[in-house]
Amino acid sequence: MEFFVDTADTQAIRELCEYLPIDGVTTNPTIITKSGKEPEQVFAELCEVLTEDQKIIAQVVATDYEGILAEAQKIAVIRDGKNIVVKIPVTREGLRAIPAVKAMGISVLATGIYSPDQAFWAAKADADYLAPYVNRMCNYGDGVAQVVELVNTLAQYGFEAKVCAASFKNVDQVHKLLAAGVPSITVAPDIIRSMVGHPGTAIAVEEFTANWEKAYGRTCL
Ligand code: G3P
Repeated sequence: MEFFVDTADTQAIRELCEYLPIDGVTTNPTIITKSGKEPEQVFAELCEVLTEDQKIIAQVVATDYEGILAEAQKIAVIRDGKNIVVKIPVTREGLRAIPAVKAMGISVLATGIYSPDQAFWAAKADADYLAPYVNRMCNYGDGVAQVVELVNTLAQYGFEAKVCAASFKNVDQVHKLLAAGVPSITVAPDIIRSMVGHPGTAIAVEEFTANWEKAYGRTCL
């Protein structure tokens, strides 16, 4: 499975990559604006902080068919096209653009998905990844259950498209989708940190050290 970080914060990416096997980074236009940097600078920094084995997944901003195609080509040459995926929202223009971008040999992640039905059409349009916005879907129903259902629907038809679950409010939502076997997921740094850090672990480690020190007068083997 693939686990991506949903951020353009290169400091956070660097920190997480130090201790976790992160498979790459996803951004969107809003995430890039939040960095306070020019997009070109963000992409340059991502290329610097990530290895070529880690994917860079970046989104088009244009909303018309021709514009989407042109921007997809622009994104596709970042880092000489190595492990680059272009995000395209599942609007009518986006759905029309997905097969055309795929035909150019560019990998596509269909994004902004609010329903399994939109995801179905993006899969049929040959997208490589489908990004349902789990937490935002929870405004309309059980987003987690709908995404689990989507994973099963794709398997039934043998679609190659992989779900890349996105938009999370808490660890529990992430946990449920991992338990359901979601093939890929993108999560913001603060939620990833919460997945890893548990106060019980810190207490256990403190106990190990204290007991060892009491018995042997040192804190190492
Ligand atoms: O990857 C999609 C994601 O960035 C949207 O997340 O938290 O804005 O709903 P959010």
